Amino acid sequence: MNYLKGKHIVLGITGGIAAYKSVVLLRLLVKAGAEVQVVITPSGKEFITPVTLSALSGKPVICDFFTANTGEWHSHVDIGLWADAMVVAPATACTLAKMATGVADNMLVTTYLSAKAPVFVAPAMDLDMMAHPSTLRNLDTLRADGVTVIEPETGELASHLVGRGRMEEPEKIAGALNRFFTVGQSLLGKKVLITAGPTYERIDPVRFIGNFSTGKMGYALAAEAARRGAEVTLVSGPVALSRPAGVHVVYVESARQMLEAAEKAFVEADIAIMAAAVADYAPEQYVGHKIKREHDEVDSIRLVKNPDIAATLGKSKRAGQTLVGFALETDNGLANAREKLERKNLDMIVLNSLSDKGAGFGTDTNKITVITCDGETAFPLKSKADVAADIIDCITA
Ligand code: C5P
Repeated sequence: MNYLKGKHIVLGITGGIAAYKSVVLLRLLVKAGAEVQVVITPSGKEFITPVTLSALSGKPVICDFFTANTGEWHSHVDIGLWADAMVVAPATACTLAKMATGVADNMLVTTYLSAKAPVFVAPAMDLDMMAHPSTLRNLDTLRADGVTVIEPETGELASHLVGRGRMEEPEKIAGALNRFFTVGQSLLGKKVLITAGPTYERIDPVRFIGNFSTGKMGYALAAEAARRGAEVTLVSGPVALSRPAGVHVVYVESARQMLEAAEKAFVEADIAIMAAAVADYAPEQYVGHKIKREHDEVDSIRLVKNPDIAATLGKSKRAGQTLVGFALETDNGLANAREKLERKNLDMIVLNSLSDKGAGFGTDTNKITVITCDGETAFPLKSKADVAADIIDCITA
């Protein structure tokens, strides 16, 4: 379905080789019925001419704050307010850095700072620039500011090197915008609770029992739910991720703390998604001082079972509340997931298998099967952001 018709889109073009693909993107958006205002950086003009862009968009391309011969002022504020969405494609390392720090030295970045609408960036650069800590840090900052990053692909680059940094194909960028307008504010007025990350169970003041969960799936779900208008409470174990824009985060450490925070938020929640990798056991006793290594051996650390947060919420679930769990399995996935669906009184369970390449802990991708009492749907390997969108689509379907 085409949801781009009549939408006002600011297409920001910066100075990268991939700018030639922006012409195709512009054509696709215009063909879909969108009104597109191109804003280009001075170096963008070195790669693609404004004549081509204005002919395709049917509007003069904006580059400068003023038109030199008439003195006409281009209002970045007006363009920012006019936009239903802004997409910067290609987004160079330089423009991403300026956006992340608020450097307003050209029309494109100034328009970004004035934009009230959601902003998308499609990075394009050489693999080393893409992998540089400063680029990754700037992208993290932009994500935390609510910008959607349309992840670059891995492939042959303009430098003939092969790596990550190819701008996503125009069809996919147009598709991401279309999906944004499709889902709109489908969770407006809904309260969503999400648990994410590992739990740490303290042994002594310096040691704990934990697991390899990074929290990426849960954080992607929180960002997606917030983007769709939900009021999101994210109960997060210890992770190294920044707070998704518009999400209320409750930071916890242990399973018991996570249970307490989740039970509190569940009272008012319409939807709860249990994406945390909760430690199954905790040491029975916490040793208040650092256990010394002079001991030849530590006899044992007795473990006791942690509360099952999903099952506890399942017991108090009211009519109208939707409870979703995850099952990370190494074998017998479907059967185990179905058993958990029933035992924990869940409405839906998302199965991911550690035996699938690219799925599970730590990766930026996941491959899931969504299981309800009515049946199951298997999805291909996708970015965790896309997987989050699929899961929320299934919940709201
Ligand atoms: O039983 P298992 O750990 O495989 O179940 C996974 C699901 O249950 C996940 O949704 C996880 O977040 C949730 N869970 C929980 N509390 C636990 C263990 C798992 O909420 N103690």
